[in-house]
Amino acid sequence: MAAKMNQKIRWGYMGAGRIAGWFATGMSVLEDAERYAIASRTMEKAEKFAKEYGFTNAYGSYEEMLLDPDVDIVYVATPVAEHYRCVKMCLEAGKNVLCEKALTVNAAQAKELVDMAREKNLFFMEAAWSKCHPVFLKVKEWIDSGLLGEIQGMDVRFYTLAGEGHRLYKRELAGGALLDLGFYPVMYACAFLGKTPKQVLSHTIIGEKNVDYLDSIILEYEGGKFAHLSCGLGSEKMVSAYILGTKGRIAFQDEFFFQATKATAYDFDNHVLATFEGPFLKNGYEFEAMEAMECLRAGKKESEKVPLDETVAIMKILDTCRGNAGFKYDFEEI
Ligand SMILES: NC(=O)c1ccc[n+]([C@@H]2O[C@H](COP(=O)([O-])OP(=O)(O)OC[C@H]3O[C@@H](n4cnc5c(N)ncnc54)[C@H](OP(=O)(O)O)[C@@H]3O)[C@@H](O)[C@H]2O)c1
Repeated sequence: MAAKMNQKIRWGYMGAGRIAGWFATGMSVLEDAERYAIASRTMEKAEKFAKEYGFTNAYGSYEEMLLDPDVDIVYVATPVAEHYRCVKMCLEAGKNVLCEKALTVNAAQAKELVDMAREKNLFFMEAAWSKCHPVFLKVKEWIDSGLLGEIQGMDVRFYTLAGEGHRLYKRELAGGALLDLGFYPVMYACAFLGKTPKQVLSHTIIGEKNVDYLDSIILEYEGGKFAHLSCGLGSEKMVSAYILGTKGRIAFQDEFFFQATKATAYDFDNHVLATFEGPFLKNGYEFEAMEAMECLRAGKKESEKVPLDETVAIMKILDTCRGNAGFKYDFEEI
């Protein structure tokens, strides 16, 4: 059923970790969003989170929150390895879902969840926050309108330094660079060059914690178009994105392209073709919440900004990269 226009949408969060706090902070500026329930594996943590971020209800288990009929949509904020199980629980309980990226560990899991949501007629969206940002949408509009001519190539990278003991180093939580960091360059390439490259070439270096520390990827598209993508753990932050068209380029140099609030397109004589500023209302997470709520109010089961088929296509590319490296998580049955 579509959410009523005049009612606040009641959010239930699954997992009281770092991103859940950031998302709650972003949501704090949205008057039509109610920070209704937080579910943690421990009651103490749930209560602490509820107090800190202004939630009405705290639950000491995920299952308990799903029994609450007043939760309109669940935000799944657990580690990637847990997404499949958590989303499945939500859908089985008849809840709409916004799930953190990467949607699942592999494309088979993602496809199964997408099919399940469609079959149950529930709203389902990957929390690919960047795709809801004003700058991302403007860049997409520029590209779609031909401002840069035809896109020929992209170079996108995301390296970061995660502290000792971080979940990114934990194989049992689907750690590694690719699913967490590599998601962004692949998502970016799929958005601007297409979700079905002709070929996916990659090389992966597995580090001492037995997860991928470095992934170097080439997506080859028809007509010699390419995306050269890389991600890595354990080095200083190194983040950039270049989009090269036949008439011009957009560059995010030494900056987080996936959370940019400004963009400028240049021609090859360095003349400005277009420029745009799209500030955040809070911290950038508010836009994906707005998108999910807009869909719920309109009775839509899928976001046009974050299409589920594109989400599955991204997972397929990530699968191919891991397949090329022979890297499979121990718990991967499906
Ligand atoms: N969009 C973004 O900018 C962004 C940024 C960071 C992370 N993320 C994504 O958000 C997800 C969570 O990342 P995070 O940084 O928030 O991680 P985190 O701080 O470790 O929090 C994850 C939470 O999941 C719950 N959980 C459930 N099963 C767990 C298990 N087996 N081991 C550990 N925790 C478990 C825990 O909450 P309880 O103990 O309360 O149940 C934990 O606090 C990941 O998918 C990540 O890719 C997205």
